[in-house]
Amino acid sequence: MTKLIKNGRIITADADYVADIFIEGEIITAIGKTLQMHADETIDATGMLIFPGGIDPHVHLSMPFMGTFSSDDYTTGTRAALYGGTTTVIDFILQKQGNSLRAAFDEWRGRATGNAVGDYSFHMAVTDFNDSTKGEIKEMVEEGITSFKTFMAYKGALMIDDRQMIGLMDEVKQQGGMVTVHATNGDMIDYLVQKHRVEGKLSPLYHYLSQPEVTEAEASERFADMTNYTECPGYIVHLTCEGALNAVRNATRRNQKVFVETCIQYLTIDASLYEREDGAKWVMSPPLREKKDQATLWAGINQGLVQVVGTDHCPFKWEQKLMGKDDFSKIPNGHPAIEHRMELLFSEGVVKGKISLNKYVEVTSTNPAKIFGMFPRKGTIGIGCDADLVIFDPAEKHTITASSHHMNVDYSAYEGWELTGKVKTVLLRGQVAINNNECLIDKGYGQFVKRKKVSQNI
Ligand code: URP
Ligand code: ZN
Ligand code: ZN
Repeated sequence: MTKLIKNGRIITADADYVADIFIEGEIITAIGKTLQMHADETIDATGMLIFPGGIDPHVHLSMPFMGTFSSDDYTTGTRAALYGGTTTVIDFILQKQGNSLRAAFDEWRGRATGNAVGDYSFHMAVTDFNDSTKGEIKEMVEEGITSFKTFMAYKGALMIDDRQMIGLMDEVKQQGGMVTVHATNGDMIDYLVQKHRVEGKLSPLYHYLSQPEVTEAEASERFADMTNYTECPGYIVHLTCEGALNAVRNATRRNQKVFVETCIQYLTIDASLYEREDGAKWVMSPPLREKKDQATLWAGINQGLVQVVGTDHCPFKWEQKLMGKDDFSKIPNGHPAIEHRMELLFSEGVVKGKISLNKYVEVTSTNPAKIFGMFPRKGTIGIGCDADLVIFDPAEKHTITASSHHMNVDYSAYEGWELTGKVKTVLLRGQVAINNNECLIDKGYGQFVKRKKVSQNI
Protein backbone atom coordinates (compact mmCIF):
# COMPACT_ATOMS: atom_id res chain seq x y z
CA MET A 1 0.00 0.00 0.00
CA THR A 2 1.22 3.50 -0.83
CA LYS A 3 0.00 6.86 0.46
CA LEU A 4 0.62 10.42 -0.59
CA ILE A 5 0.06 13.26 1.85
CA LYS A 6 -0.22 16.46 -0.16
CA ASN A 7 0.66 20.02 0.76
CA GLY A 8 1.14 19.78 4.51
CA ARG A 9 3.39 22.15 6.45
CA ILE A 10 6.04 19.77 7.76
CA ILE A 11 7.49 20.67 11.15
CA THR A 12 10.50 18.85 12.57
CA ALA A 13 12.88 19.86 15.34
CA ASP A 14 14.90 21.89 12.85
CA ALA A 15 12.78 22.49 9.74
CA ASP A 16 9.51 24.06 8.64
CA TYR A 17 8.40 23.76 4.99
CA VAL A 18 5.45 22.83 2.78
CA ALA A 19 5.82 19.55 0.85
CA ASP A 20 4.30 16.19 -0.02
CA ILE A 21 5.15 12.95 1.77
CA PHE A 22 5.13 9.58 0.00
CA ILE A 23 4.76 6.42 2.08
CA GLU A 24 5.37 2.83 1.00
CA GLY A 25 4.11 0.31 3.52
CA GLU A 26 5.33 1.49 6.93
CA ILE A 27 8.08 3.83 5.77
CA ILE A 28 8.44 7.33 4.31
CA THR A 29 10.22 6.93 0.98
CA ALA A 30 10.01 10.39 -0.58
CA ILE A 31 9.45 14.00 0.45
CA GLY A 32 9.28 16.82 -2.07
CA LYS A 33 7.36 19.67 -3.64
CA THR A 34 4.47 18.43 -5.78
CA LEU A 35 5.49 14.77 -5.93
CA GLN A 36 4.09 13.08 -9.03
CA MET A 37 3.94 9.49 -7.74
CA HIS A 38 0.73 7.53 -8.03
CA ALA A 39 -0.52 6.38 -4.63
CA ASP A 40 -3.25 3.99 -3.49
CA GLU A 41 -4.54 6.71 -1.17
CA THR A 42 -4.07 10.48 -1.18
CA ILE A 43 -4.60 12.68 1.86
CA ASP A 44 -4.96 16.43 1.38
CA ALA A 45 -3.19 18.25 4.21
CA THR A 46 -3.51 21.79 2.86
CA GLY A 47 -3.53 24.28 5.75
CA MET A 48 -2.48 21.58 8.22
CA LEU A 49 0.71 21.13 10.21
CA ILE A 50 2.43 17.75 10.07
CA PHE A 51 4.42 16.64 13.11
CA PRO A 52 6.32 13.41 13.71
CA GLY A 53 4.25 11.09 15.92
CA GLY A 54 4.47 12.07 19.57
CA ILE A 55 6.57 9.95 21.91
CA ASP A 56 5.56 9.90 25.56
CA PRO A 57 8.43 8.33 27.50
CA HIS A 58 6.64 8.25 30.84
CA VAL A 59 3.41 6.27 31.18
CA HIS A 60 2.11 3.65 33.61
CA LEU A 61 -0.34 1.16 32.07
CA SER A 62 -2.02 -1.45 34.31
CA MET A 63 0.56 -0.63 36.93
CA PRO A 64 0.20 -2.35 40.30
CA PHE A 65 0.54 0.56 42.75
CA MET A 66 -0.66 1.52 46.22
CA GLY A 67 -3.01 -1.44 46.51
CA THR A 68 -4.65 -1.08 43.10
CA PHE A 69 -3.85 -0.88 39.35
CA SER A 70 -3.70 2.17 37.10
CA SER A 71 -6.92 2.08 35.13
CA ASP A 72 -5.66 2.25 31.53
CA ASP A 73 -4.32 -0.98 30.09
CA TYR A 74 -2.30 -1.44 26.91
CA THR A 75 -5.37 -1.24 24.72
CA THR A 76 -7.16 1.74 26.25
CA GLY A 77 -3.94 3.60 27.08
CA THR A 78 -2.18 3.36 23.74
CA ARG A 79 -5.45 4.03 21.88
CA ALA A 80 -6.10 7.19 23.92
CA ALA A 81 -2.49 8.21 23.23
CA LEU A 82 -3.11 7.86 19.48
CA TYR A 83 -6.24 10.02 19.66
CA GLY A 84 -3.99 12.73 21.03
CA GLY A 85 -1.18 12.31 18.49
CA THR A 86 1.17 10.15 20.57
CA THR A 87 2.18 7.13 18.48
CA THR A 88 4.77 5.58 20.83
CA VAL A 89 4.83 5.31 24.61
CA ILE A 90 7.45 3.99 27.01
CA ASP A 91 5.94 2.19 29.99
CA PHE A 92 7.68 1.14 33.20
CA ILE A 93 8.23 -2.49 34.09
CA LEU A 94 8.43 -2.81 37.89
CA GLN A 95 10.78 -5.42 39.32
CA LYS A 96 9.23 -7.06 42.39
CA GLN A 97 11.65 -6.91 45.31
CA GLY A 98 13.21 -10.39 45.71
CA ASN A 99 12.40 -11.33 42.10
CA SER A 100 14.37 -11.07 38.87
CA LEU A 101 14.23 -8.45 36.15
CA ARG A 102 13.48 -11.24 33.69
CA ALA A 103 10.35 -12.28 35.60
CA ALA A 104 9.08 -8.69 35.55
CA PHE A 105 9.90 -8.34 31.85
CA ASP A 106 7.95 -11.52 31.05
CA GLU A 107 4.96 -10.27 33.04
CA TRP A 108 4.84 -6.87 31.30
CA ARG A 109 5.49 -8.38 27.86
CA GLY A 110 2.60 -10.75 28.47
CA ARG A 111 0.30 -7.82 29.21
CA ALA A 112 1.36 -5.79 26.20
CA THR A 113 1.70 -8.41 23.44
CA GLY A 114 -1.38 -8.53 21.24
CA ASN A 115 -3.09 -5.79 23.24
CA ALA A 116 -1.35 -2.55 22.28
CA VAL A 117 -2.94 -0.37 19.62
CA GLY A 118 0.01 2.04 19.44
CA ASP A 119 3.74 1.30 19.55
CA TYR A 120 5.44 0.91 22.90
CA SER A 121 8.70 0.23 24.63
CA PHE A 122 9.74 -0.41 28.22
CA HIS A 123 11.96 1.10 30.88
CA MET A 124 13.01 -1.34 33.61
CA ALA A 125 12.38 -0.07 37.14
CA VAL A 126 15.01 -1.64 39.40
CA THR A 127 13.61 -1.84 42.92
CA ASP A 128 16.08 -4.39 44.31
CA PHE A 129 19.65 -4.13 43.06
CA ASN A 130 21.86 -7.03 44.12
CA ASP A 131 24.45 -9.37 42.57
CA SER A 132 21.81 -11.31 40.73
CA THR A 133 20.08 -8.19 39.33
CA LYS A 134 23.48 -6.89 38.30
CA GLY A 135 23.96 -9.90 36.06
CA GLU A 136 20.67 -9.17 34.27
CA ILE A 137 21.41 -5.60 33.17
CA LYS A 138 23.34 -6.75 30.09
CA GLU A 139 20.53 -9.13 29.13
CA MET A 140 17.96 -6.34 29.35
CA VAL A 141 20.07 -4.05 27.19
CA GLU A 142 20.25 -6.86 24.63
CA GLU A 143 16.44 -7.09 24.73
CA GLY A 144 16.27 -3.40 23.80
CA ILE A 145 15.51 -2.12 27.30
CA THR A 146 18.32 0.36 27.73
CA SER A 147 16.97 2.65 30.47
CA PHE A 148 16.79 1.66 34.13
CA LYS A 149 14.41 3.56 36.40
CA THR A 150 15.08 4.14 40.07
CA PHE A 151 12.96 5.55 42.86
CA MET A 152 14.60 7.66 45.57
CA ALA A 153 11.07 7.88 47.07
CA TYR A 154 8.18 5.54 48.01
CA LYS A 155 10.05 4.30 51.07
CA GLY A 156 9.19 0.72 51.98
CA ALA A 157 7.80 0.01 48.50
CA LEU A 158 9.87 0.97 45.44
CA MET A 159 12.73 3.00 46.94
CA ILE A 160 16.37 1.93 46.66
CA ASP A 161 19.18 3.31 48.80
CA ASP A 162 22.27 5.15 47.57
CA ARG A 163 24.42 2.04 47.82
CA GLN A 164 22.17 0.22 45.37
CA MET A 165 21.98 3.33 43.21
CA ILE A 166 25.72 3.68 42.83
CA GLY A 167 26.12 -0.05 42.11
CA LEU A 168 23.40 0.11 39.46
CA MET A 169 24.98 3.18 37.84
CA ASP A 170 28.35 1.42 37.60
CA GLU A 171 26.82 -1.57 35.86
CA VAL A 172 24.46 0.37 33.59
CA LYS A 173 27.32 2.57 32.41
CA GLN A 174 29.34 -0.55 31.53
CA GLN A 175 26.47 -1.94 29.49
CA GLY A 176 25.69 1.25 27.52
CA GLY A 177 22.44 2.15 29.25
CA MET A 178 21.03 5.06 31.22
CA VAL A 179 19.73 5.41 34.78
CA THR A 180 16.55 7.42 35.18
CA VAL A 181 15.20 8.60 38.49
CA HIS A 182 12.20 9.74 40.47
CA ALA A 183 14.30 12.20 42.46
CA THR A 184 12.74 13.09 45.77
CA ASN A 185 14.09 12.42 49.26
CA GLY A 186 12.09 9.38 50.42
CA ASP A 187 13.16 9.58 54.06
CA MET A 188 12.18 13.23 54.44
CA ILE A 189 8.84 12.60 52.76
CA ASP A 190 8.17 9.56 54.92
CA TYR A 191 8.86 11.65 58.03
CA LEU A 192 6.56 14.47 56.90
CA VAL A 193 3.74 12.12 55.89
CA GLN A 194 3.80 10.43 59.32
CA LYS A 195 4.03 13.80 61.11
CA HIS A 196 0.96 15.14 59.29
CA ARG A 197 -0.99 11.96 59.95
CA VAL A 198 -0.22 12.05 63.67
CA GLU A 199 -1.38 15.68 63.74
CA GLY A 200 -4.63 14.65 62.08
CA LYS A 201 -3.83 16.61 58.91
CA LEU A 202 -5.28 14.19 56.41
CA SER A 203 -6.66 16.15 53.45
CA PRO A 204 -5.05 16.12 49.96
CA LEU A 205 -3.37 19.44 50.75
CA TYR A 206 -1.06 17.53 53.11
CA HIS A 207 0.11 15.33 50.27
CA TYR A 208 1.50 18.53 48.80
CA LEU A 209 2.88 19.80 52.10
CA SER A 210 4.63 16.47 52.72
CA GLN A 211 6.74 16.89 49.58
CA PRO A 212 8.18 20.41 49.72
CA GLU A 213 10.50 21.67 47.02
CA VAL A 214 13.61 20.91 49.09
CA THR A 215 12.86 17.16 48.96
CA GLU A 216 13.14 17.28 45.18
CA ALA A 217 16.03 19.75 44.99
CA GLU A 218 18.12 17.71 47.42
CA ALA A 219 17.54 14.39 45.66
CA SER A 220 18.12 15.89 42.20
CA GLU A 221 21.46 17.26 43.33
CA ARG A 222 22.42 13.92 44.92
CA PHE A 223 21.48 12.07 41.75
CA ALA A 224 23.49 14.52 39.63
CA ASP A 225 26.48 14.07 41.93
CA MET A 226 26.26 10.29 41.71
CA THR A 227 25.95 10.24 37.92
CA ASN A 228 28.85 12.67 37.72
CA TYR A 229 30.99 10.43 39.87
CA THR A 230 30.08 7.19 38.07
CA GLU A 231 29.90 8.85 34.62
CA CYS A 232 26.66 6.99 34.02
CA PRO A 233 24.18 8.77 31.71
CA GLY A 234 21.37 10.13 33.89
CA TYR A 235 17.82 11.34 33.29
CA ILE A 236 15.50 12.89 35.87
CA VAL A 237 11.84 12.05 35.25
CA HIS A 238 8.97 14.41 36.06
CA LEU A 239 11.05 17.31 37.36
CA THR A 240 8.71 19.96 38.75
CA CYS A 241 10.45 22.87 40.39
CA GLU A 242 13.00 25.65 40.45
CA GLY A 243 15.20 24.10 43.16
CA ALA A 244 15.54 20.82 41.28
CA LEU A 245 16.25 22.49 37.95
CA ASN A 246 18.87 24.66 39.63
CA ALA A 247 20.61 21.48 40.82
CA VAL A 248 20.83 20.41 37.17
CA ARG A 249 21.92 23.90 36.14
CA ASN A 250 24.70 23.76 38.73
CA ALA A 251 25.84 20.41 37.35
CA THR A 252 26.38 22.01 33.95
CA ARG A 253 28.98 24.29 35.59
CA ARG A 254 31.25 21.25 35.97
CA ASN A 255 30.52 20.32 32.32
CA GLN A 256 28.00 17.64 33.23
CA LYS A 257 24.85 16.83 31.29
CA VAL A 258 21.83 15.45 33.12
CA PHE A 259 18.75 14.93 30.99
CA VAL A 260 15.50 16.39 32.33
CA GLU A 261 11.89 15.54 31.64
CA THR A 262 9.04 17.59 32.94
CA CYS A 263 5.38 16.71 32.45
CA ILE A 264 2.52 18.66 30.97
CA GLN A 265 0.76 19.11 34.32
CA TYR A 266 3.73 20.84 35.93
CA LEU A 267 3.69 23.42 33.13
CA THR A 268 -0.02 24.08 33.16
CA ILE A 269 -1.67 23.53 36.56
CA ASP A 270 -0.58 24.39 40.10
CA ALA A 271 -0.87 23.45 43.75
CA SER A 272 -3.90 25.66 44.42
CA LEU A 273 -5.96 22.66 43.19
CA TYR A 274 -5.16 20.80 46.43
CA GLU A 275 -7.45 23.20 48.31
CA ARG A 276 -10.45 21.88 46.37
CA GLU A 277 -12.94 19.32 47.63
CA ASP A 278 -11.89 17.01 44.78
CA GLY A 279 -8.16 17.72 45.28
CA ALA A 280 -7.44 13.96 45.19
CA LYS A 281 -7.69 14.14 41.38
CA TRP A 282 -4.32 15.88 41.35
CA VAL A 283 -2.59 13.81 44.00
CA MET A 284 0.57 12.73 42.22
CA SER A 285 4.23 12.59 43.11
CA PRO A 286 5.98 14.94 43.01
CA PRO A 287 2.97 17.19 43.61
CA LEU A 288 1.93 20.17 41.52
CA ARG A 289 3.98 23.25 42.41
CA GLU A 290 3.79 27.03 42.25
CA LYS A 291 3.48 29.57 39.44
CA LYS A 292 7.17 30.48 39.85
CA ASP A 293 8.05 26.83 39.16
CA GLN A 294 6.00 26.86 35.96
CA ALA A 295 7.96 29.92 34.84
CA THR A 296 11.21 28.08 35.60
CA LEU A 297 10.13 25.04 33.58
CA TRP A 298 9.05 27.02 30.51
CA ALA A 299 12.35 28.90 30.65
CA GLY A 300 14.21 25.61 31.19
CA ILE A 301 12.71 24.24 27.97
CA ASN A 302 13.93 27.25 26.02
CA GLN A 303 17.33 27.12 27.70
CA GLY A 304 17.73 23.47 26.63
CA LEU A 305 17.92 22.33 30.25
CA VAL A 306 14.58 20.52 29.99
CA GLN A 307 14.63 18.26 26.94
CA VAL A 308 11.38 16.31 27.24
CA VAL A 309 7.71 16.94 28.09
CA GLY A 310 5.98 13.68 29.05
CA THR A 311 2.86 12.93 31.08
CA ASP A 312 3.58 10.39 33.84
CA HIS A 313 0.14 9.13 32.82
CA CYS A 314 -1.04 7.05 35.77
CA PRO A 315 -4.83 7.21 35.87
CA PHE A 316 -7.07 6.08 38.70
CA LYS A 317 -10.85 6.23 38.63
CA TRP A 318 -12.58 8.38 41.23
CA GLU A 319 -13.62 5.24 43.10
CA GLN A 320 -9.92 4.33 43.40
CA LYS A 321 -8.99 7.84 44.52
CA LEU A 322 -11.59 7.44 47.28
CA MET A 323 -9.36 4.78 48.88
CA GLY A 324 -7.74 7.83 50.48
CA LYS A 325 -10.85 9.86 51.32
CA ASP A 326 -9.90 9.89 55.02
CA ASP A 327 -6.13 9.87 54.62
CA PHE A 328 -4.14 11.55 51.85
CA SER A 329 -1.37 8.93 52.14
CA LYS A 330 -3.75 6.26 50.82
CA ILE A 331 -4.80 8.14 47.68
CA PRO A 332 -3.25 6.31 44.70
CA ASN A 333 -0.73 8.74 43.22
CA GLY A 334 -1.13 9.72 39.59
CA HIS A 335 -3.31 11.53 37.06
CA PRO A 336 -4.54 10.98 33.49
CA ALA A 337 -2.93 12.94 30.63
CA ILE A 338 -1.76 10.54 27.88
CA GLU A 339 -4.44 11.78 25.48
CA HIS A 340 -3.96 15.50 25.90
CA ARG A 341 -0.21 16.13 26.17
CA MET A 342 0.26 17.16 22.53
CA GLU A 343 -2.82 19.38 22.28
CA LEU A 344 -2.26 20.96 25.70
CA LEU A 345 1.36 21.77 24.98
CA PHE A 346 0.46 23.21 21.58
CA SER A 347 -2.31 25.38 22.98
CA GLU A 348 -0.57 26.48 26.17
CA GLY A 349 2.95 26.60 24.74
CA VAL A 350 2.94 27.37 21.00
CA VAL A 351 -0.30 29.36 20.71
CA LYS A 352 0.55 31.43 23.80
CA GLY A 353 4.03 32.14 22.42
CA LYS A 354 6.00 30.34 25.13
CA ILE A 355 7.78 27.89 22.80
CA SER A 356 8.40 27.70 19.06
CA LEU A 357 6.92 25.08 16.75
CA ASN A 358 10.34 23.46 16.35
CA LYS A 359 10.84 23.32 20.10
CA TYR A 360 7.39 21.75 20.40
CA VAL A 361 8.44 18.88 18.12
CA GLU A 362 11.79 18.58 19.86
CA VAL A 363 10.34 18.06 23.35
CA THR A 364 7.34 15.92 22.38
CA SER A 365 9.03 13.61 19.88
CA THR A 366 12.62 14.16 18.68
CA ASN A 367 14.40 14.38 22.02
CA PRO A 368 12.65 11.37 23.59
CA ALA A 369 13.52 9.38 20.44
CA LYS A 370 17.16 10.45 20.59
CA ILE A 371 17.64 10.08 24.35
CA PHE A 372 15.99 6.66 24.43
CA GLY A 373 17.62 5.14 21.35
CA MET A 374 14.76 5.21 18.81
CA PHE A 375 16.06 7.94 16.48
CA PRO A 376 15.85 8.30 13.48
CA ARG A 377 13.36 5.47 13.06
CA LYS A 378 11.05 7.47 15.33
CA GLY A 379 11.04 11.15 16.31
CA THR A 380 11.35 12.91 12.96
CA ILE A 381 9.99 13.11 9.42
CA GLY A 382 12.54 11.93 6.88
CA ILE A 383 13.23 9.35 4.21
CA GLY A 384 13.58 5.91 5.80
CA CYS A 385 11.73 6.87 8.99
CA ASP A 386 8.63 5.09 10.22
CA ALA A 387 5.61 6.91 8.80
CA ASP A 388 4.37 8.01 12.24
CA LEU A 389 2.70 11.31 11.43
CA VAL A 390 0.25 13.71 13.04
CA ILE A 391 -1.85 15.91 10.77
CA PHE A 392 -2.85 18.82 12.96
CA ASP A 393 -5.24 21.74 12.52
CA PRO A 394 -3.57 24.65 14.33
CA ALA A 395 -6.74 26.75 14.39
CA GLU A 396 -9.49 24.36 15.46
CA LYS A 397 -10.85 25.03 18.93
CA HIS A 398 -12.19 22.30 21.20
CA THR A 399 -12.91 21.58 24.84
CA ILE A 400 -11.49 18.80 27.01
CA THR A 401 -14.10 16.78 28.84
CA ALA A 402 -14.26 13.34 30.40
CA SER A 403 -17.55 12.73 28.59
CA SER A 404 -15.72 12.41 25.29
CA HIS A 405 -12.14 11.48 26.11
CA HIS A 406 -10.84 7.98 25.41
CA MET A 407 -8.87 7.24 28.58
CA ASN A 408 -10.36 4.68 30.93
CA VAL A 409 -11.03 7.13 33.73
CA ASP A 410 -14.20 8.90 34.78
CA TYR A 411 -12.88 12.43 35.22
CA SER A 412 -10.53 14.76 33.44
CA ALA A 413 -7.85 16.72 35.25
CA TYR A 414 -8.46 19.44 32.63
CA GLU A 415 -12.28 19.40 32.51
CA GLY A 416 -13.65 22.34 30.52
CA TRP A 417 -10.29 23.59 29.24
CA GLU A 418 -10.67 25.25 25.85
CA LEU A 419 -7.77 24.46 23.56
CA THR A 420 -6.66 25.81 20.20
CA GLY A 421 -5.22 23.17 17.86
CA LYS A 422 -6.59 19.70 17.19
CA VAL A 423 -5.22 16.35 16.06
CA LYS A 424 -7.12 15.44 12.87
CA THR A 425 -5.37 12.39 11.41
CA VAL A 426 -2.68 10.14 12.87
CA LEU A 427 -0.63 7.61 10.94
CA LEU A 428 1.26 4.86 12.70
CA ARG A 429 3.79 3.03 10.54
CA GLY A 430 1.88 4.06 7.43
CA GLN A 431 -1.58 3.04 8.62
CA VAL A 432 -4.23 5.65 9.29
CA ALA A 433 -4.78 5.05 12.99
CA ILE A 434 -7.02 8.01 13.80
CA ASN A 435 -9.15 10.00 11.41
CA ASN A 436 -11.63 12.66 12.49
CA ASN A 437 -11.99 11.28 15.98
CA GLU A 438 -12.31 7.65 14.97
CA CYS A 439 -9.78 4.90 15.66
CA LEU A 440 -9.23 2.75 12.57
CA ILE A 441 -6.75 0.18 13.86
CA ASP A 442 -7.24 -2.65 16.32
CA LYS A 443 -5.41 -3.87 19.36
CA GLY A 444 -2.43 -5.96 18.32
CA TYR A 445 -1.30 -3.42 15.72
CA GLY A 446 1.01 -1.78 18.28
CA GLN A 447 4.54 -3.19 18.25
CA PHE A 448 7.33 -3.37 20.79
CA VAL A 449 10.13 -0.98 19.85
CA LYS A 450 13.53 -2.45 20.62
CA ARG A 451 15.79 0.42 21.60
CA LYS A 452 19.48 1.04 20.90
CA LYS A 453 22.12 1.80 23.48
CA VAL A 454 21.91 5.39 24.63
CA SER A 455 24.07 8.34 23.71
CA GLN A 456 24.58 11.48 25.76
CA ASN A 457 25.29 13.48 22.66
CA ILE A 458 21.86 14.30 21.34
O1 URP B 1 2.12 10.13 41.09
C1 URP B 1 2.77 9.46 40.30
N1 URP B 1 3.77 10.05 39.70
N2 URP B 1 2.42 8.19 40.05
C2 URP B 1 3.10 7.28 39.22
C3 URP B 1 4.36 6.73 39.82
C4 URP B 1 5.50 7.69 39.68
O2 URP B 1 6.04 8.13 40.69
O3 URP B 1 5.89 8.04 38.58
ZN1 ZN C 1 7.67 9.03 39.87
ZN1 ZN D 1 5.77 7.82 36.75
